[in-house]
Amino acid sequence: MLRVEQLCKSFAGTTVVKKLSFEIGAGESFGLLGPNGAGKTTTIKMLVGALAPDSGSITLHGQSMHESPEIRRKLGVAPQSLSLYENLTGRENLVFFAKLYGLKGQELKTRVDWALDLADLVSRQKDLVATYSGGMQRRLNFACAVVHNPDLILLDEPTVGVDPQSRDHLFRSIEKAKSEGKTILYTTHYMEEAERLCDRIAIMDEGSILAVDTVANLIAKHGGAATITGELEEELKAQLQNDALVWDDCQFRLTSHEPVKAIAELAGSGLPFKALNIKQANLESVFFSLTGRTLRDA
Ligand SMILES: Nc1ncnc2c1ncn2[C@@H]1O[C@H](COP(=O)(O)OP(=O)(O)OP(=O)(O)O)[C@@H](O)[C@H]1O
Ligand SMILES: [Mg+2]
Repeated sequence: MLRVEQLCKSFAGTTVVKKLSFEIGAGESFGLLGPNGAGKTTTIKMLVGALAPDSGSITLHGQSMHESPEIRRKLGVAPQSLSLYENLTGRENLVFFAKLYGLKGQELKTRVDWALDLADLVSRQKDLVATYSGGMQRRLNFACAVVHNPDLILLDEPTVGVDPQSRDHLFRSIEKAKSEGKTILYTTHYMEEAERLCDRIAIMDEGSILAVDTVANLIAKHGGAATITGELEEELKAQLQNDALVWDDCQFRLTSHEPVKAIAELAGSGLPFKALNIKQANLESVFFSLTGRTLRDA
């Protein structure tokens, strides 16, 4: 459905998007996971036509965005920096964006009512957006992206600065869109969000995609070993004969590619562990093995 090929963008001689290529199939939810400055927003801006690429191509439904800009009507975007009019009401904002995409008459009204309901803002629709909480504004930002019923929804860090309830609400709305067959491009630097929502994830850093696959395949290929952690009383430590354990006071750590077997062996000692846990490799370990940094301090 969407094909991005060899996309490049520089600002003042610094390349921030480097030969980026990826494809998203119809109905797929695809994540761009990367730290601050990875080039996620720059990529989204090129997809929606807000920034011209230096080179490369973007095609949607087989049509070049450059040659057929009207194809952009089939996509909807919730930008990272909110695109809302604070001195208009929530409803007026939705009407504005719906009209921009050519809706009118009864269809416009029906879609705006639908979007207000989706964002759970029916009771606040006549209030100025300036009076909305951060979470309500994010929900409205999302509703404005989908009011014209686009095929492809681009969400640029849609949960940043949002309270847990609104975040949950946004997640449910996105999952609903997904279950209705919408195609989603989701950027985030939260691995939990990417894991929950995305069928496939591109790990992005410094303008390039380092790996792209399903979560399970990324972890299997790049995640490395699982970690087992545990704790024993000081006087019992000597009874645990295992050279692979790394001790820190009464707590120990062990990495293993067969964590279930390893934990069973430890448990088989019969010692009264105060704690014994498996931490499976996750996207954080994938990012670390690909970049040598963690997502959080990258
Ligand atoms: N208009 C601009 N002029 C100059 N540099 C820019 C401009 N826009 C972005 N950049 C730079 O490009 C790089 C990528 O920025 P971008 O906003 O795409 O990253 P991001 O992955 O969206 O990060 P974040 O997670 O912080 O939103 C950064 O180093 C940024 O400073
Ligand atoms: Mg960004």
